[in-house]
Amino acid sequence: LNADHVTSIASLLSAPSSSLLTTISTSDSSIPTADASDLESFNTDWMNKYKGQSPLVVKPKSTKEVADVVNYCYEHGIAVVPQGGNTGLVGGGVPVHDEVVINLSNLNNIRSFDEVSGTLVCDAGCVLEVLDNHVGEKGYMMPLDLGAKGSCHIGGNVATNAGGLRFLRYGSLHGNVLGLEVVLPDGRILDGLSTLRKDNTGFDLKQLFIGSEGSIGLITGVSIVTPRRPAAFNVSVFGLNSFEAVQKLFPKVKASLGEILSAFEFFDAHAMSLVKGHATAGVKDPFEAAHPFYVLIETGGSNKDHDDEKLSALLEELIEDEWVDDGVLAENTTQISQLWALRESIPEAAGKAGRVYKYDLSMPVEKMNELVEEMRSRFESKGILGADKMFSSVVGYGHIGDGNLHINIVAKEYSDEAEREIEPFIYEWTSNVNGSISAEHGLGRMKAEKIGYSKSDESIRIMQDLKKLFDPKGIFNPHKYLPGA
Ligand code: FAD
Ligand code: MLT
Ligand code: ZN
Repeated sequence: LNADHVTSIASLLSAPSSSLLTTISTSDSSIPTADASDLESFNTDWMNKYKGQSPLVVKPKSTKEVADVVNYCYEHGIAVVPQGGNTGLVGGGVPVHDEVVINLSNLNNIRSFDEVSGTLVCDAGCVLEVLDNHVGEKGYMMPLDLGAKGSCHIGGNVATNAGGLRFLRYGSLHGNVLGLEVVLPDGRILDGLSTLRKDNTGFDLKQLFIGSEGSIGLITGVSIVTPRRPAAFNVSVFGLNSFEAVQKLFPKVKASLGEILSAFEFFDAHAMSLVKGHATAGVKDPFEAAHPFYVLIETGGSNKDHDDEKLSALLEELIEDEWVDDGVLAENTTQISQLWALRESIPEAAGKAGRVYKYDLSMPVEKMNELVEEMRSRFESKGILGADKMFSSVVGYGHIGDGNLHINIVAKEYSDEAEREIEPFIYEWTSNVNGSISAEHGLGRMKAEKIGYSKSDESIRIMQDLKKLFDPKGIFNPHKYLPGA
């Protein structure tokens, strides 16, 4: 490892074998071995952008086992990377060098569910979709939903403070998480798995771990409040001819649908064309003509007739008064999934088109498309955008309802030269409009040194002091999250 404060993994491999070490590359025949390809998936991120060289993946089955491993690493000054479903988009969940990967996929028990309050207590390694199905059987749902739900863990969601598709209605994990169990960098277990809705006794320590991206502790258990699953869902997608029309549509839809509006997502024509060209089979453009912009709205309510009536009246008005150019309404659950797939498959389609530079920004909604257009014209003027050029496409999409823009820039290859064409321009632009360079994906390895575009020096110093307090040896997720970490 580069950092002085951590020991090379080689010393660990010569240590006595442990039942906790389930994947290890060593000549010691008493320890289960794995070849390089077994280790590759733990060392490589979802985008194929970040790669580490850890020879050791540990998959503990209990909080106590996590604590033992972490304590061992603390005593020996060995760096670790907490890893959930490895769907993160900023390189936070894979090693930079040869840090030990502590993968939580074997810590996956549902501990309890209270059907009166809707409070779920579970291990951090539970997959989000498994939890959603579990509480769904009892009439509830998880307060968050992401395209990565089939792989991401609730612990990873909490560690990144993931936003996603239900944020508009159900808000942030800072509000929905009631308690956490965390293994601290020295191996101590901080048992804060409260199920209380109200608790004003002292500092709310769990908030520090929500969004801390494995920098100050390893989350092993989560207590979270789940809302009632709406009895009726409706989904509609509209085609619009300008971004101004998208902007105007949001307050209009909010005012008309009120409490039943559960998502308001947008994507541009470039995103739609990626989806049509590269997404999984079955994803189809429901419109006859192309439109410059698309908006997906979802409603979720307790009375289908009431929702249908509200939505039909709105759709009629939107078409008649030309708020939108065209629109489709799903008539059954299959069509609901098909319409959602248009939006949810954008990241996957971009990944199939090339190497993707992902930017996850929040800013005033009226600025969003300006940045996307400026990015395109910047590349065009330099002759680097188009088929067989450095960049093949710049797509804009995101959670308009939350002021969150995703810009994906599809490149032929990841290279320093390509990155220099985008950065720091994109961060400076975002900072100049008082936006955030990390709306929901986190900082990870990608943006550890960029936090200053969105936070003051004083805030960063306090964060660094907190990091030292929890992790004095700097063994948790080194080279990530904060400058100089
Ligand atoms: P990982 O990728 O394994 O880890 C992410 C970070 O959390 C790392 O820094 C890791 O060290 C840390 N970590 C993981 N588990 C723990 C733990 N138990 N304790 C402490 N630290 C831990 N994100 C959104 O916010 N909104 C979206 O809509 C969204 N959609 C996505 C769609 C797709 C197709 C993909 C691939 C990703 C998407 N993401 C989205 C990003 C990603 O899925 C989320 O950040 C997710 O919360 C990461 O969970 P994970 O279990 O995969 O974590
Ligand atoms: C999304 O909104 O689709 C996610 O945040 C993932 C992404 O931007 O790639
Ligand atoms: Zn998103």
